[in-house]
Amino acid sequence: MKAVKITDGIYCLPVNLESYQLFEGMWPMPNGISINSYIVQGDKTAIIDLVEDTDGKPAELEAEIHSIPLDQKNIDYMIINHMEPDHTSWLPEFYRKNPQLQFYLTGKAAGLLKSFCGIEENVHIVKDGDTLDLGQGKVLSFHETPNIHWPETMMTFEQSSGTLFSCDAFGSYGKLERVFFDDRLSTEQHTFFSNEALRYYANIVASFSTFVTRGIEKLSALDIKVIAPSHGIVWRENPKQIIDSYARFAEYMNGPAEAEVTVIWSSMYGNTEKLVSNIVQGVRKEGLPVHVHRVPDEHVGILLASAWRSAGLILGMPTYEYEMFPPMAWVLDMFRRKKVLNKKVLRFGSAGWSGGAQRELDKLTEKLKWEFIDPIEWMGAPGEHELDLALSQGQALARQVKDFCSK
Ligand code: FEO
Repeated sequence: MKAVKITDGIYCLPVNLESYQLFEGMWPMPNGISINSYIVQGDKTAIIDLVEDTDGKPAELEAEIHSIPLDQKNIDYMIINHMEPDHTSWLPEFYRKNPQLQFYLTGKAAGLLKSFCGIEENVHIVKDGDTLDLGQGKVLSFHETPNIHWPETMMTFEQSSGTLFSCDAFGSYGKLERVFFDDRLSTEQHTFFSNEALRYYANIVASFSTFVTRGIEKLSALDIKVIAPSHGIVWRENPKQIIDSYARFAEYMNGPAEAEVTVIWSSMYGNTEKLVSNIVQGVRKEGLPVHVHRVPDEHVGILLASAWRSAGLILGMPTYEYEMFPPMAWVLDMFRRKKVLNKKVLRFGSAGWSGGAQRELDKLTEKLKWEFIDPIEWMGAPGEHELDLALSQGQALARQVKDFCSK
């Protein structure tokens, strides 16, 4: 791939990770992801963020640098917005090839540069609002945005073009192949990247939502004309769209999220499964969208987006050896870690021979501010009574969600 010109002297250099790879070593990426570096050229040249040292990806970035055309030995400044290794694991080798590089980063990032990469020299620590003049009108300013995504994170703003290099913020999954800008996307592609942004947010950023809200407030002081994130498309026609999307994703934490219901169910021998269709029917009677996911067939990284977006959750799980069915325990533990808060919730499931799933669920969710309606639980196989309850409780949960979302 060639570098993509954003405006005079500013280039996006996307490198795609493939769908068979796992992001952060755990998240499935059915549509891959791009890792974007940027070049800003004045009299001096800066590169903003790098790429993960995996699967030949650094060679792809080098080829894109050469395509500008630019000799990487002529890069003067390395701006490090964020030290997570998807952007920095190639940094030691890049520095070895370009020992003249001067690093610009926050104080916390400098500590991580030492611990992750063993680099302590040529380091310039920047503070909020500091600037770096590249010449020819290109001026970079630095803005600390802690915890979007790590504590050391900052964003870089090129003042003459109004381009915000936002690193993880405003990013999405999804490879960049033929389209790189929001104004070049078809309606279908917009929907694709919108869904990929939500799933990326739910997987990577969700637990830092308070900081996202705070960061967006702080960025409102900047005259942003272009959002250039480190993952996903560049927003140059309507940057407000992705800013507003992220603001809304962050609000989901405090609730209410959207008036939708996500059903996540698991079953050992089909006894818990028998209630699923009646539950879904009950929700639909109230006219709400319902998203159904089976565990463990579907990875928590996929269903997390749906759960994050929905104001209502319905969880189906049998008891397994006096506790929750283990694949669901993993999902619930991930919800706890990702702060999936403030939901209306219904649980259903076979108690097997003993019960115990409810006890573990109560423990795992005690800090999530979930409001439960009466569960549906039975010993062994469900009967007509439970099937009728599935319909009525699905409907009852949907009504609760509607009330919650109308306030
Ligand atoms: Fe794309 Fe938090 O790294």
